[in-house]
Amino acid sequence: MATKMILLNLLTIPLLYFFLRKRKAIAATKLPPQPPGLPLLGNLHQLGSFPHRSLNSLSKQYGPIILLRLGIVAPTVVISTAELAEQVMKTQDLIFANRPPSSMANHLFYNSTDIAFSPYNDYWRMMKKISIVHLLSNRRVQSYKRLRQEEMDLLIAEIHAASAAAEAVNLSKRLRVLTNDIICRVALGRKYSGETRFQEMLDEFRKLLGSFPMADFFPWLGWVDRVIGLEGRARRASKELDELLERVLEEHLSRKKSSNAIGSSKECMDLVDVLLSVKEEHDSNDDADIALGKEHIKALILEMFAAGTDTTFTTLEWGMAELIKHPTVMQKVQREIRDTLRSKQVIEQEDIDRLTYLKATIKETLRLHVPVALLIPRLTMEDTQLQGYDIPAGARIIINAWGIARDPNYWNRPEEFWPDRFLNSNVDFRGQQFQLTPFGAGRRACPGIDFGIAVIECTLVNLL
Ligand code: HEM
Repeated sequence: MATKMILLNLLTIPLLYFFLRKRKAIAATKLPPQPPGLPLLGNLHQLGSFPHRSLNSLSKQYGPIILLRLGIVAPTVVISTAELAEQVMKTQDLIFANRPPSSMANHLFYNSTDIAFSPYNDYWRMMKKISIVHLLSNRRVQSYKRLRQEEMDLLIAEIHAASAAAEAVNLSKRLRVLTNDIICRVALGRKYSGETRFQEMLDEFRKLLGSFPMADFFPWLGWVDRVIGLEGRARRASKELDELLERVLEEHLSRKKSSNAIGSSKECMDLVDVLLSVKEEHDSNDDADIALGKEHIKALILEMFAAGTDTTFTTLEWGMAELIKHPTVMQKVQREIRDTLRSKQVIEQEDIDRLTYLKATIKETLRLHVPVALLIPRLTMEDTQLQGYDIPAGARIIINAWGIARDPNYWNRPEEFWPDRFLNSNVDFRGQQFQLTPFGAGRRACPGIDFGIAVIECTLVNLL
């Protein structure tokens, strides 16, 4: 009996000690306020069709920092003030520089070896550097000036022809084709707008990227994605895109071989050409310890389409829609463009830089209609604190850039389209002022700002 008692004590005392310590640790943790949710689903059902709007309402009710449970994955923290956004994207940028895993990105981006979905590591650093230095630098963006103008001229000619025939032009549709064509020519060297299958493939790619796979919220329900066919669709889409990109790479490689023989021009290099040269240099560098393979190049090219087309197109579409709804603003921008450019045929960057009101109009469009409303989620790399609340390592962070850009604490008449607000203000969208971050900020900021803005400015100047 005595031995039994001793054994029981030996077992229960450590258990009790462990239990009490855990309770103490939980009690000592001060987590952000959590809106009540449902068993298993957590707060998933509260996201609705427009998560940025639903999260904005929740933050008005529960505060600027809230904790959600989305399925059974790690806790998700949603922040909705410029001060907290600055903490996440500047003061504690390194702690929040990781990305949560995404099963769809694993399918579509060669195991998330693109930039946006790649975890924060040496590989991401190498790819981001390649994008900033070689693919999306201001110099590279300027080198595509003629190409942008050629595509614009085609659109303007089409509009003239339609108006001469008294026909309507579906500007939304046409602006989507325009941004696609520009990215195609810049990235792949030619347009694919006449090829229906290519367009269908891109549409499917976009739909899949925007889908909500079960595996990401309830890992043990991953089989549902197979049963409903989502996984199969992702496999087929990535296989077909891979075959196309393989062909594009082969064509470029053989052209490179023959042009090397006669001397190639750096002027007309598309992004595949650039990446192949970067790869050649990388492969010959004995100190390079991270491989830059063909699949990584394909992931980067796909990224240009995924990150660069819809964002640019929606800004253009909202910009034109707001101008049509606000004729006085429209007249003011048109007058500025006419007075500044007069009958100039070739528009240089310096000319565009003088268009203060156009630039204010673009800022206002990006403020009122933040294209990536919740930015891209981040993943906390170590335990930390935000506004006195404990944020555990592994928590996901969502920044409601849309809500912040409409917050009356930072903006006068926030719901109004009013470009004049930017005329005597130094607020910009380049990640220095956290009440306006349509491109994110810090280490994970968008490297395509100059590229996107160049397309938007060129298109608006010509259309207006
Ligand atoms: C109006 C146009 C655009 C907008 C509003 C936009 C917005 C964004 C946003 C919000 C992010 C996430 C930032 C963060 O997590 O803090 C991002 C990331 C990214 N964007 Fe853009 N983007 C635009 C155009 C482009 C273009 C044209 C390209 C390339 C051709 C591009 C390439 C990327 C890449 C590669 C990332 C991932 C960066 C990383 O995770 O380190 N973007 N963009």
